[in-house]
Amino acid sequence: MVYDQYFIDELKSRADIRKIVEGYVPLKKRGANWMACCPFHQEKTPSFSVNPAKGFFKCFGCGKGGNVFTFLMEIEGLNFPEAVRRVAEISGVSLPLTENESNLEAARTRREAERKLAEKIIQLNKAAADFWQKQLFSNENKARDALAYLRSRGIDEGTCRRFQIGYAPDKWDSVVNLLKGLGADDELMIQSGLVSKNEEKNRIFDRFRNRIIFPVLDDRGNTVAFGARAMGDDQPKYLNTPETAAYVKGRHLYGLFYAKEAIRKAKFAILVEGYLDLIALSIHGIENVVAGLGTALTAEQAALLARYSRRVVINYDGDSAGIKAARRAILELAALDMDIKVLVLPDGQDPDEFIRSRGAAEYKQVRGRALPFIAFALESAMNGRSMTNARERSDAIEETLPVIAAIRNPIEKRQFFDEAMAYFGIEDASLKRDLWKTVKSSLTSDPEAIAKQARRVARPKITVAEQYLLELLIHDRELRSRILPVIEPSDYEHLATARIFEALYKLEEMNAEPEIGILNDLVGDDEIARDLVPLLLIGEPKREKGEVIDGVLHEAENCLFSLRSMAIEHRLYEISRALIAAEQIGDFESVTHLVTEQLDLSKMKQGMLTKLRES
Ligand code: UTP
Ligand code: MN
Repeated sequence: MVYDQYFIDELKSRADIRKIVEGYVPLKKRGANWMACCPFHQEKTPSFSVNPAKGFFKCFGCGKGGNVFTFLMEIEGLNFPEAVRRVAEISGVSLPLTENESNLEAARTRREAERKLAEKIIQLNKAAADFWQKQLFSNENKARDALAYLRSRGIDEGTCRRFQIGYAPDKWDSVVNLLKGLGADDELMIQSGLVSKNEEKNRIFDRFRNRIIFPVLDDRGNTVAFGARAMGDDQPKYLNTPETAAYVKGRHLYGLFYAKEAIRKAKFAILVEGYLDLIALSIHGIENVVAGLGTALTAEQAALLARYSRRVVINYDGDSAGIKAARRAILELAALDMDIKVLVLPDGQDPDEFIRSRGAAEYKQVRGRALPFIAFALESAMNGRSMTNARERSDAIEETLPVIAAIRNPIEKRQFFDEAMAYFGIEDASLKRDLWKTVKSSLTSDPEAIAKQARRVARPKITVAEQYLLELLIHDRELRSRILPVIEPSDYEHLATARIFEALYKLEEMNAEPEIGILNDLVGDDEIARDLVPLLLIGEPKREKGEVIDGVLHEAENCLFSLRSMAIEHRLYEISRALIAAEQIGDFESVTHLVTEQLDLSKMKQGMLTKLRES
């Protein structure tokens, strides 16, 4: 119901049905009623009557009847709310807000109140920032420590002023008193996030104490939040403003207010992780920098940055966490079709460490060599993994495909996809086709979903030889003791089932039988192994009790032989790729090594074949 019944009844009683009907047919008074020729059917003598006192009409000829609303619905073809509005208009009654409209109105009022609250909080924040900055230069003992800490990190007084860096004294009530002096009540203080409440003692106290304060400004320069760093190694390293009316997490970028002009001029932005990275770069004259605020880069932060520049260089910490975070940031930025490069500094350094030890010129040099994001994605996915190892390769694919899926331009997407396939050495056409399907559709860009799909598709295939060998081994203790010692790690390392082979070795060491529980424990979270183990166990033993071992031994040796030749093929393939690369860069030393290995392997393969023919 759009209008409530109370209003409708009220309107009905106030409306003059006679006047309204008269707009369509002339009425003549007959006693308490008014009569006319029916407007709803053809007639010569009036059988249509209106009773103003009771508010209804009735035609004794055609049978139509009703109230003022149904009259208008009937004669004008209106729906009920339209009829209500028309009646209200004619009767000079103002309409109440509909449910939707009143929700809107309430939302508007709420928003207005939030906005006012945000404004107040920003004022208090600014006052606190000014106060903390004054404290930093107050010459008090602990403030001097803070200043000394900042100096030790290369931050001078001018920089403190530029970024409004401050020091929150080691007291429980300095901000409480400051805000009280500004007329803020307890509730507002708590809402600002500057002050916390101890519910048990019903007391409020300063949230930030004995910390260095970095004010966070929005892109218009409003002080919306704070990051408060412990001095030295106290934990937690940073305390941050909670969400308030003035601050929603993931909506702001630290330093953007200062960097806007520099970003426009440079035509690109550098994205770093930490406050101190940004400040260090600024000290060395590099100003087109923004920092995320501790959390993974959000879509909103990406969009905010895109307003100032479409080109961005991600320069996160060079450690593995930084590389992972960079990969996630790429997903958000690529979704906006940004031009993204990634700069990974040597030796796992962060921008602060790098620029302080090597200076701006060298920083600019390495920045110039930042990798296009797809090259970064491929390289970091390959790092520490071998593409001839089935499982490691499938991990690399799983990690890379979400990045390719995030690329908006379809031609680029295809190009990068092909590049990735070549890079990972994927030649199987049907695998390629299936992988392309997972990244092509723009239906889902959810990285989790794409990674999962990629994992399913790229899951390494288990060969007949390895499965059969495992089946033989798992049911036959004597066979294990004969065969396991002659298997080399290089025979199974690259296989999908590597973890099961490893598990069998451990069982031998423990002198234990292969049982489901212990095997599952040993293979851990390896999905392929977990799926295969039960299948292996329910298989039939290949040898009757008391039967001589020769038969199964021979079979096992044949399997091992197949595995070995596959391993050689793998390695030969790897070598051929490495050779191309080495020749391209003129690394002749490597070429020599590779060629030697190639020859050795070929000989080994030949030897194995001869032996097989002899047996
Ligand atoms: P970092 O630990 O790298 O801090 O976290 P940093 O600012 O670079 O400081 P230094 O150089 O190690 O002393 C990067 C960013 O993550 C957020 C902060 O925004 C920080 O700048 N962060 C970090 C937190 O919000 N809370 C924390 O406890 C740690
Ligand atoms: Mn850092």
